[in-house]
Amino acid sequence: MGIVITGGTVINASEMGKADVLIEGEKIVGIGAAGTLQAERSLDATGKYVIPGGIDVHTHMELPFGGTSASDSFETGTRAAAWGGTTTIVDFAVQTKGQNLMDGFETWMKKAQGNCAIDYGFHLIVGDVTEQSLKEMDLAMDEGVTSFKMFMAYPGVFYSTDGEIFRAMQKAAENGSTIMMHAENGIAIDVLIEQALKRGETDPIYHGMVRRSILEGEASHRAIKLAEAAGCPLYIVHMSAKEALDEVIAARDRGADVFAETCPQYLFLSLDDLGNGFEGAKFVCSPPLRDRAEGHQDRLWQGLATNDLQVVSTDHCPFCFEDHPTLGRQKRLGEGDFSKIPNGLPGVEHRMDLIYQGAVAEGRLGLRRWVEVCATTPAKLFGLFPNKGTIAVGADADVVVYDPTASQTLSAQTHHMNTDYSCYEGRQIQGKVDTVLSRGTVIIQGGAYTGKKGHGRYLRRDRNQYLSGR
Ligand code: URP
Ligand code: ZN
Ligand code: ZN
Repeated sequence: MGIVITGGTVINASEMGKADVLIEGEKIVGIGAAGTLQAERSLDATGKYVIPGGIDVHTHMELPFGGTSASDSFETGTRAAAWGGTTTIVDFAVQTKGQNLMDGFETWMKKAQGNCAIDYGFHLIVGDVTEQSLKEMDLAMDEGVTSFKMFMAYPGVFYSTDGEIFRAMQKAAENGSTIMMHAENGIAIDVLIEQALKRGETDPIYHGMVRRSILEGEASHRAIKLAEAAGCPLYIVHMSAKEALDEVIAARDRGADVFAETCPQYLFLSLDDLGNGFEGAKFVCSPPLRDRAEGHQDRLWQGLATNDLQVVSTDHCPFCFEDHPTLGRQKRLGEGDFSKIPNGLPGVEHRMDLIYQGAVAEGRLGLRRWVEVCATTPAKLFGLFPNKGTIAVGADADVVVYDPTASQTLSAQTHHMNTDYSCYEGRQIQGKVDTVLSRGTVIIQGGAYTGKKGHGRYLRRDRNQYLSGR
């Protein structure tokens, strides 16, 4: 049965205008002047925007971290994503120390298979650089995993030395994959953590104070230089600091293949949220929320406007604040020692809304740029375009009808993420998802979830499409 979305304003990264969108099966098959297309079923988008489904290239469903696991499963997390107009996630499979890289991939495939409401792909966290895992980076590419995350942070957990990072980067240069970097100097940060705890500074606010922005800048500089020396593309994840942005700007100005994302938490929240005693644990993530007075937030918005920053993802990695009946203690594991608070925030549901608010409603960026940073560029950087990230004939019918006249109040009482608090509790924002289609199936409509678990399909991704012409 065909579907036509009529009367809306279709917004792509490159153009926008009033048009009808015709869908047959899983694909968009026609785009025509308003009022010219017909089908068995019609969705009225008059006064609304018709945009490509959001693509969140940084999520951690079920991630084991700090003695517990992220509280959203692939089932609950992808359903929450759908509610917020995200129709694709790229999550992180993990290779732990002593494990083969591809075992990590198989494990995460099993976790996701049959459970997702929307389409999904994987990056791989390289947790153990060995001759074997370097070889397996080629096998991962054959399975459509074309990007590998490494950590300069978290010594003893995910951390890799510069030598290990450089070896993986050399492999990435050879096989055309992209290295994604968590750029914080974890060794120096561990010194500052130890010193703070010795002084009795145990509250969550100290998490933000020891993980200094200069150490994100330093690590970003080092990651960029290592990538340039190895000759591989680099994507810096969850950027929070102006010092790091300066490094990316300098690298891109000299023509290096360096890309970066930021996340809504760094654009809306600040070090102040980490205060208020242990309540601040709700806001513990790494890199940490930054001091607003230092100007990081303004610089990040500016970076999005000038394309020095290309993507907004969520780094969705939720943990409950209060003890949970089955997950047990999560954020509270860090009572009395901020370094034991599991790192991460809930966010997958509200990225499209928050960026609409900050970018469009508050006048920092235009509508097309909103779509570009939330859907089109992630699709291109991570090898999903043009099936995903655009409203075009031949693309997957991942379509969101977005109502710019609606408003909403964000709250844990109404969100769909499996966590007992919201970082944006009580915040009023303009704009709301009206209808969501995933490959031609209506999965959100009329304030109800109409999708089903297992609809989401694994996506074999291509390489970074900004570089594939070379
Ligand atoms: O605090 C964070 N970001 N938690 C998730 C793991 C990571 O570093 O991305
Ligand atoms: Zn990270
Ligand atoms: Zn992350």
